[in-house]
Amino acid sequence: MTVQDSPTIEMPTSGFRREDFVSPDILEEEMERIFRKNWMYVAHTSQLAKPGDFVRHDLAGESVIVVRTRSGELRALYNFCTHRGAQLLEETSGSCGRAITCTYHGWTFDYDGELRSAPRMQPDFDKTPHGLKHAWVDTWNGLVFVSLADERPPSVAERLPDADFGEHQLERAKVAVEYRTVIEANWKIVWENGGECYHCAINHPELGRVMSVTRTGASESHSLVADYRFDRKFPLLEGMHTLTMDGQFRSKRLLGDPDSPPEGMRFLNWHSSIFELTAAADHAHIQTFKPLSTTRTEVRLVLMVHADAVENEDYDAEGIFELHRIARGQDSGLCEKTQRGIGSRHYQPGPYNTVYEYSSQQFRHLYQQAMGQL
Ligand code: FES
Ligand code: FE
Repeated sequence: MTVQDSPTIEMPTSGFRREDFVSPDILEEEMERIFRKNWMYVAHTSQLAKPGDFVRHDLAGESVIVVRTRSGELRALYNFCTHRGAQLLEETSGSCGRAITCTYHGWTFDYDGELRSAPRMQPDFDKTPHGLKHAWVDTWNGLVFVSLADERPPSVAERLPDADFGEHQLERAKVAVEYRTVIEANWKIVWENGGECYHCAINHPELGRVMSVTRTGASESHSLVADYRFDRKFPLLEGMHTLTMDGQFRSKRLLGDPDSPPEGMRFLNWHSSIFELTAAADHAHIQTFKPLSTTRTEVRLVLMVHADAVENEDYDAEGIFELHRIARGQDSGLCEKTQRGIGSRHYQPGPYNTVYEYSSQQFRHLYQQAMGQL
């Protein structure tokens, strides 16, 4: 999916077909054309602070580890041994120890993937071509992304040219809460649900006390077919400052420069990376969605505060999480009942609301482009 401008484009007027939500063949094609091609969020750089620190990322039938090398760079390496193929790291994050060691026959690899030793191999064995296979890695505002594409895609910054989170200095943040849950619904149902607020007024009473739940989702600054939506103005109600239960800050150590903390909130909804980022002055919030099967999706929520904020002194984790947790639960229920309804052979997609489901129209258009359906 690429950023394009075309005034003559025809947007889809109704939703995805039933088979798009239930077909394993379509899911496999989505893996190839979307999930293995684009940048996917993996971690915050603070989770990879020291050489040897790693996080593991499993997606689209692949397992990749992102490792901090001795020279301080990040490397994305396929998580299998180049000898007989055994998986190397089974933990989801941590430190590799002194090297990445395969516990099958004892081959060891440096943090940059080079094969360092291969015990008792024949004397003329050349280790050089047997390093770990690499994927692509990029960082943007302190956030680490991986791509499994054959060719390195344009950088995240190039893909999001005007998504400006500079004031929030997210590279100086840390992860305060990380939460994963599985929803019994196709990933596109979950992504469409997150992008529109047509459902908010009758389903999110707690959100409705803090923000306008009749926002349209249309952006002043983006074309209909843009791959992402970035808003400098988040529709908070008068007197509200952040997405917490009472709209007040729950971290005293604000993000950004202490002398001029960020004003207002920023919001990014990036279709091709299935990535959503909302930043207020006290905390930032990421949501990503990963298909596990046609009808199961893993949701990951990451809440970040300033790196110097001390838990229970400057912030309470439940205080910044509560509203997101409640809204996530409500949305998950909506997605699951939608999947159950779509299971009927008589289901036909209905029309989009062209004001309030603008984001879904935009997403479906980009999806059809990516899948070669246009
Ligand atoms: Fe890894 Fe043999 S499979 S050393
Ligand atoms: Fe919702």
